[in-house]
Amino acid sequence: MHDVTRPAPWTGSGQADGKATLYRDLAEELNALLTGETDATANAANAAAAIYHSLPRLNWAGFYFLRDDTLVLGPFQGRPACVRIKSGSGVCGTAARDGRSVLVPDVEQFPGHIACDSASRSELVVPLLRDGEVIGVLDLDSPDLARFDAEDQAGCEALAAIVVRHLGGSAFGAIRALLTEPS
Ligand code: SME
Repeated sequence: MHDVTRPAPWTGSGQADGKATLYRDLAEELNALLTGETDATANAANAAAAIYHSLPRLNWAGFYFLRDDTLVLGPFQGRPACVRIKSGSGVCGTAARDGRSVLVPDVEQFPGHIACDSASRSELVVPLLRDGEVIGVLDLDSPDLARFDAEDQAGCEALAAIVVRHLGGSAFGAIRALLTEPS
């Protein structure tokens, strides 16, 4: 557990010589930031903040978690967003349904794109995979066309794997419980 009298161990110093360095540094910092904390909501929230403030030219970064056949909004940075997205709908639902990353250079060219923030021009959605099962997605939006490339995809897939490891077994059960409607 982090010492609450000291700041979280994230410096945001990964202002890179290149994308490979940026993602390598960010992966190390993210792992350090999440290590020692078992609360899934806290770790997803800090991951969204670290990613949003480390990767340039983003207007939204955050998580959706799968509940039955619907993605439900999780911790994020950016403007308020659509809360529920059906599996198979939009970019997020496509990534969740297919269990693969979806890279969209121009959101206007993606049939069924869901516009949460009209400023978004390009998008990268990476599935959160746990033991081969999709448990949610990491969604990044940019105000720039073609902001993301294959290097960003690989880098974000590595970040997503780190986040999944730090959502924990029982802690992930807790976040699912939080997302469950009261009966
Ligand atoms: N654009 C996404 C919706 C989520 S927001 O971008 C935060 C989509 O088409 O699934």
